[in-house]
Amino acid sequence: MRKRIGIGLVGFGWMGQAHSRSYRRLPMLFPEREADPELVICGDTVAERREQAVAAFGYGEATADWRAVCEHPAVDAVVVTAPNMLHVEIVEVACASGKHVFCEKPVGGTPEQTAQAAAAASAAGVVTGVGYNYRFAPLVRYAAELVGEGRLGEITTYRGRFFSMYGSDPLGLLSWRFEQDQAGYGVSSDLLSHAVDLAHMLIGPIAAVVGTRATFVPERPLPRPAAQTHYGRGGPGDPTGPVTNEDYAAALAVFESGARGTFESSRTLVGPESQMAFDLYGTEGALSWNLERMNELRLYLAGDEPYTGYTTVFAGDRFPYHGNFVPGRANGIGFEDLIAIEDYEFLQALARGEPFRPGFEDALAYVAFQAALIRSWESGAWESVVPILEVTA
Ligand SMILES: NC(=O)c1ccc[n+]([C@@H]2O[C@H](COP(=O)([O-])OP(=O)(O)OC[C@H]3O[C@@H](n4cnc5c(N)ncnc54)[C@H](O)[C@@H]3O)[C@@H](O)[C@H]2O)c1
Repeated sequence: MRKRIGIGLVGFGWMGQAHSRSYRRLPMLFPEREADPELVICGDTVAERREQAVAAFGYGEATADWRAVCEHPAVDAVVVTAPNMLHVEIVEVACASGKHVFCEKPVGGTPEQTAQAAAAASAAGVVTGVGYNYRFAPLVRYAAELVGEGRLGEITTYRGRFFSMYGSDPLGLLSWRFEQDQAGYGVSSDLLSHAVDLAHMLIGPIAAVVGTRATFVPERPLPRPAAQTHYGRGGPGDPTGPVTNEDYAAALAVFESGARGTFESSRTLVGPESQMAFDLYGTEGALSWNLERMNELRLYLAGDEPYTGYTTVFAGDRFPYHGNFVPGRANGIGFEDLIAIEDYEFLQALARGEPFRPGFEDALAYVAFQAALIRSWESGAWESVVPILEVTA
């Protein structure tokens, strides 16, 4: 007998729609599931999105008031896909109503807000999830398996990056992502969080960091009407406003294991389109993965004689989850399939009454790194990564 899980969602933009589509698809993709989602209520401030949520996605109802989502009696789990600076308040009200919470990364716009959200969830004893979806890519799972089994020897070096072009055009709109009061920090929250989270999963915690940041496009056209995304474009001569958070963030890092790492993220460079990628080097092998080619893993095993260099491993149904989408080998899966996998695993955790990873403790692990990075922007020096203590509200 499957458990029914009522879903309430706040913020029906890119990610809100992606999670909603995923919940609709789960019964078709995961026959082994222990829970069935029901799309109960969707919250968004834009009327057309509310209409779309009901008419096209099958939500029972929609509202402009996110509190009504958090407090709805038929909702078991609240999915938070609103702009970052709204996360904490929504998480707090959802937790106070006894709802489980899946919050998109980074969970709040500042390290302090992430701590506040984590404190609310742990006080309420609810299950938490955070949208570090790249953890679920089948070939990333395989990479983790190889590292865990020691097939690459001792890991000495890690390079993580997330290069996106979404802000490379100076006529790209000043959407919420570019404003400190709506997004909190810039790419260190939006993009670098994914890159560092994967490193945490693959090779463990970071002990110290030194870094730099820059804002390369200081002004952008104002969006009209207001609710447009970072993919929208203005015109020459449009009124502009200032970008108030960072376009670029980078770090040198020392892992607790002694491994050394470099991390970079940018939304304004030209070239890489969505290069969420890592290269990992051990004493007996190496591997590389890049979202732009998410169905390929480049693998070098030094034990292979004669040395053949890197080989390409294609994704296929012999790797975790892949066969739920498509059978065989080298028949690829896509970005939104990763969202479906994480949503499936989140519901499995709820059905079983178990914790889910990545949860708010993983969001806290990232912001501990981020807080040290931010201190290093000010000090210009190496800074230790220290746990961000949960603050009680
Ligand atoms: N895991 C990933 O790969 C990934 C990718 C993109 C975004 N995200 C995260 O998802 C979140 C949303 O990002 P997005 O790109 O979907 O943004 P978006 O701008 O596409 O959507 C945000 C939505 O929130 C709505 N909204 C704004 N204020 C609201 C309010 N007060 N009440 C209800 N709704 C409100 C907007 O109308 C819009 O529909 C962010 O936290 C972002 O970091 C994660």
